[in-house]
Amino acid sequence: MRYRLLPFSLGLLLACSTERSVTSTSTAFEAPLATPIPKAAAPRLADSAMVVSAHPEASKIGTQILRRGGNAYDAAVAVQFALAVVLPVAGNIGGGGFLLYRDRNGSAGSLDFRETAPARASRDMYLDRQGKVVEGLSTAGPLAVGTPGTVAGMVTLHQQLGKLSWPALVQPAVDLAAKGFQLTVKEAAGLNHFRADFLKYNPGSTPAYLRPGGGEWQAGDTLRLPELARTLARVRDQGRAGFYQGETARLLLAEMKRGGGLISQADLDGYRAKWREPLRGRYHEYDVITMPPPSSGGVALLQMLQMLEPVNLARAGYHTPLAVHFITEAERRVYADRATYLGDPDFGYVPVRKLLEVDYNRQRMASLRAQGRATPSSEVAAGANLPGYESSETTHYSIVDALGNAVSCTTTLNGAYGSRVVVPGAGFLLNNEMDDFSAKAGVPNAYGLVGGTANAIAPGKRMLSSMTPTILTRNGKVALVVGSPGGSTIITSVLQTILGVVDYGLNAQQAVTAPRLHHQWLPDVIDVEAGALLPAAQDTLRAWGYHLNPRLPWGRLDIIRVQPTGKLEGGADPRGDDTALGY
Ligand code: GLY
Repeated sequence: MRYRLLPFSLGLLLACSTERSVTSTSTAFEAPLATPIPKAAAPRLADSAMVVSAHPEASKIGTQILRRGGNAYDAAVAVQFALAVVLPVAGNIGGGGFLLYRDRNGSAGSLDFRETAPARASRDMYLDRQGKVVEGLSTAGPLAVGTPGTVAGMVTLHQQLGKLSWPALVQPAVDLAAKGFQLTVKEAAGLNHFRADFLKYNPGSTPAYLRPGGGEWQAGDTLRLPELARTLARVRDQGRAGFYQGETARLLLAEMKRGGGLISQADLDGYRAKWREPLRGRYHEYDVITMPPPSSGGVALLQMLQMLEPVNLARAGYHTPLAVHFITEAERRVYADRATYLGDPDFGYVPVRKLLEVDYNRQRMASLRAQGRATPSSEVAAGANLPGYESSETTHYSIVDALGNAVSCTTTLNGAYGSRVVVPGAGFLLNNEMDDFSAKAGVPNAYGLVGGTANAIAPGKRMLSSMTPTILTRNGKVALVVGSPGGSTIITSVLQTILGVVDYGLNAQQAVTAPRLHHQWLPDVIDVEAGALLPAAQDTLRAWGYHLNPRLPWGRLDIIRVQPTGKLEGGADPRGDDTALGY
C-alpha cells in the first residue's frame, strides 16, 4: 500500500519505503526542522526486576515485595494499594483500571476492573428537561460515581496469579496510611488547588485531605489517613468483603444516600472484575499486546501503528513537519473511529476485527490530502468545532520481575481526585468515571471526547476508556512495558513513546521525557508541549493547515524497556514524582 501524497521527492521515498533503517537514525536527526533528540537523565538500570510508578513510596513497596520473593502480580497489588494512599490524585480503591500481563512462558491476559454504571443509572440522567447536558453533574459529586472495581480487580489478580499472602500485600499500604507520609511539592499543590472542591463536595464531614487546623499544605507536611488505614485493614483481613460488604459498604452507601448518589448494595454485590483476551498486533519486528474494549486505547493504538508502519519515520526525522503530519493524520482518523464505534463490548457489538484490518487502516490513510496539507477533521467525519478539555489524572505502573513476568497497569479515579467525594468514616476518594460515558451523542466530555450510542449510559455498563496498558515483545521476549495517564491523550502518549523507542532509538528515559504532541480529531488542533517542535517546524505545519495549541505538559509515562542484553531500563516521567527502582 502506498500513500499518495507529499510534494517532496523525499516524500515518496519516505512514504513508500519498505526498507527501514531504524538503526541508522543519525539521518533522522539531520532532517531539516527536526527537533533535537531530548536530553534526559540516564535511565535507571537493573539486572533482575524493576518497578516504575508515579510515587517513590509505591515503587519502594513494589520492589520490597519482589525482593521478598513476590512475583510481578504480587508487586502490582502492593503498588496499587500504596498508590491509593500516597497518590490521592489518582491512586485509588474507589476507582478502577485495566491490568495487562505477559508471563514468563509467553501467555498474556488482561484484567478489566473498570467501574460500572449503577443499576439506577439511565441514558439521559445528565440531561435537563430540554435535553441539554447539565454541566458538572457527571464530573463531581455523588452522582458522578461509578461502582468501583479496584478491590475486586486486585483480589481477582491475586487469586489467579499471586504468590505471597494477601495480607502481606495490603499491609504496607495500611502502615503508610496510619503512620502518614510526606507530601511532595506536587501533591501539596494539588490538594491545595482542590481545597474548595473538597469543602463543597463533603458537607458535614472534614476529609483528611484538608490540612488539619486549616491553611495550605506545604511540601514535607505529613498526611495521615487513619480512616483510610481502617478501610485498608478491612480489605487486608476480609478481601473483597472488606470493601463491598460490611462496614466499608455501609459507609459508602450512607454517603450515596446523603448526596443523592445511585450506588446500591446490589451494585456492590454484583460487581465483577473480568478477564479479557488482550488485543495483539505487530509493529515492525515487535509483537504488540494491548488492552481490548471497554478500553478504546488498544484498538486505537494498533490502528495507528498499522497506519504508520509504511512510513519511514526515522528518515522523516524526529518531530519534523513531515513526521508530525503523518502521525497527526493517523490520530485524527482513529479518534473519529473511536467516537463512532467504541463502547462496552458486553452491551453492544464493537467492530474490533474490522477496525484492526490492515487494509481498512491503510485505506483510511488514502484520504490524506496531497501536498503535505492537513485534512480538516470535518472532512474525516462530520463534527462541529468543539471546545477544549481539561487536564486529567490517572496513573500507570510498569513492573518486571526476576522471572520475566511483566505487568502494565493503568488505574484511575478519572479526574484529579475523582468526584472529590471522600467517603465519610472510610477515608477514600470516589471516582467521577460516569463522565467517561457519552452523556449525549456528539456532546464532548471533560476530555473534549465525543461519543455516540455505543458509549451511552446503561445500568451495569462499563464506560469507554482511553487507558492503554501495553507490552511489546521481540523474538518472544518482553521488550517494552508502557502506559500513561492523561484521559484522551493516553493513547497518543503511548503511541509516541513506542515510536520513540522503536523508530527513533530513544532509551526509556528519553522516550518519556520527550515533549509531546496530541491530536484527537475534535477539536481540530495539535496540542504542543513546550520544546516539542522547532519554531520553523511550527510555521511549516501552520502553512500546511494545522492549528497548533501550546499546552501545559500532560501524561506521566512510567515504562520499562528491556535491553537486548536483558538489562532492565526504567523510564520514569519527570513531569511527576515518578520513580523507577530495581535491582
Ligand atoms: N478516565 C480516563 C480513561 O479511562 O480514559
